[in-house]
Amino acid sequence: MSQTLKAIRGTRDLLPPETALWNRIEATARDVFARYNFGEIRTPVFEDTALFARGVGEETDIVSKEMYTWEDGERFNEQRMIVDWESLNRSDDPTHVQAGRAHVERLSPLLTQLNAIGVQREVTWGVALPGQQLPGSAPEFVCFRPRISSEAISALLEARELAKSDPASHLRQTHVRLRLVVPANAADNPWVERHDVTIQWFEGNFFDSAQSLTLRPENTAGVVRAYIEHGLGESGQLQKLYYIGPQFRRERPQKGRYRQFSQIGAEVIGPPSAGSESPLRDAEILEMLATLLDELGISGWKLELNSVGSAADRARYNEALRAALVPVVSQMCVDCQRRAVTNPLRVLDCKVPADQPIIETLPVIADSLDEASRVHFAAVMAALDAAGVPYKRNHRLVRGLDYYTRTTFEFTHGGLGAQNALLGGGRYDGLSEMLGGPRAPGIGFAMGEDRLVLTLLAALDQNAAALKAEAYIAPLGDGLNAAALVLARELRHQGLWIELGDGGFRLKKSFEAADKTARHIIILGEDELKSGILTVKNFSTGIQTKVPRAELAVFLSN
Ligand code: HAM
Repeated sequence: MSQTLKAIRGTRDLLPPETALWNRIEATARDVFARYNFGEIRTPVFEDTALFARGVGEETDIVSKEMYTWEDGERFNEQRMIVDWESLNRSDDPTHVQAGRAHVERLSPLLTQLNAIGVQREVTWGVALPGQQLPGSAPEFVCFRPRISSEAISALLEARELAKSDPASHLRQTHVRLRLVVPANAADNPWVERHDVTIQWFEGNFFDSAQSLTLRPENTAGVVRAYIEHGLGESGQLQKLYYIGPQFRRERPQKGRYRQFSQIGAEVIGPPSAGSESPLRDAEILEMLATLLDELGISGWKLELNSVGSAADRARYNEALRAALVPVVSQMCVDCQRRAVTNPLRVLDCKVPADQPIIETLPVIADSLDEASRVHFAAVMAALDAAGVPYKRNHRLVRGLDYYTRTTFEFTHGGLGAQNALLGGGRYDGLSEMLGGPRAPGIGFAMGEDRLVLTLLAALDQNAAALKAEAYIAPLGDGLNAAALVLARELRHQGLWIELGDGGFRLKKSFEAADKTARHIIILGEDELKSGILTVKNFSTGIQTKVPRAELAVFLSN
């Protein structure tokens, strides 16, 4: 017997009824984002590795040890081939094949005919022609207009792969030759002469070399890449974008920490003239997060706040830290010893208990902030105070990604254990420039959706009412199945979440099934059907009530 396959460690299947909670969280988030005038962005799940190396930072844990990165093999660039082909073979002569300058004197009438009825456009496949190699050595593909079939491309790639182990093979060349033929099916038509139409040989290297790709470990770098790529700053407006989707990090899995996890995040980014640097943006984002967590029903969250200053402030602080670490670092963990040299700021992330008293004695970043960063941070805090959003300053909150400047923050929750960050974020005023874009200060956050679900599940008990149908209909006997379907239809049309049982079940079995899936059971027997008075039992109170059919929906919703 073959071994059963399982989901990969650190990934998991999400199943009902828990998925209902995921959907509710996402619906609430979309609703709040819409009220704050955010629009949705969806970026690809994988990107060029360089995006994360440059954006998130080579020295961060995420980039240095947690990314899923692979070399994407050489690819056949069909688009480039088409562009080259067309620019080489453009012709205004109507007797010529549209995409190729063919040697067609003898066949002009045929081509005119083909052009006229558009046969050429229909024939877009191509085939490899074994045994019909052209003089010379490159593999030959026959195609039309010019397009190469996927089979031909894989055959070519395979041949090149083989050639790598055979230095003498002519397939080491990266050339493709194209030839136009009258397609076989066209030849079945009586008016088509069966001749090959030869196009000038066309050669070139149409292979792109291998590229390093990475499953996104976070979404901010991708959003900023898209902002630059689509010139979103050119409108002069602030871009307010949110996303919901999977992220990937090769971390040691534990409760609340997975290798595939989902983030709900948002970014506000734009040219400085649009107000993207204003401390009001920071305060508005934090106020929105307080609203979102409250509307999700998450109580007891804590907001921790810090400012890591400008890039120059950070450099100054890094030097202060480096100097302060010299006399003490030999007593610290190996990771801290490495960080003290490569990126001293990361020492503040250390969780090793023995290192904590030493870290407490190190200088704090607040003392390295310049006047502008100080004023900015004070304005953020003043706006939060005015809006009544509670927060606590945490000098050690420098965050594990290198793009942050000025405001950084995390919302934590005591119920989560070691992985207690519900969400994290901050300002990244230099990220766009780091990625080769225009000046575009920004601020954003990402919430761990898995952790939101864990927090909400812990608040609900095992038989969480929120995850159950409002009622289970139990027909008493097969003869009542159709009537039960009618009743279910009636209630569902009124917006109720209903599970339909089966008249073939004994009453005990119906009760057991109902208790697992619904808050109430509705018994539907002959008497109930005739009288229109149904017996409804509420599982949490144990109370059984007679309810007139017309009042059922109201009764069940309360
Ligand atoms: P982050 O702090 O790396 O920030 O991640 C944000 C949140 O994602 C964390 O607070 C946590 O809830 C969740 N999370 C991270 N790793 C895992 C994991 N392995 N398993 C489950 N949940 C996880 C960022 O990703 C930044 N891009 C946030 C941001 C947006 N900054 C500015 N804009």
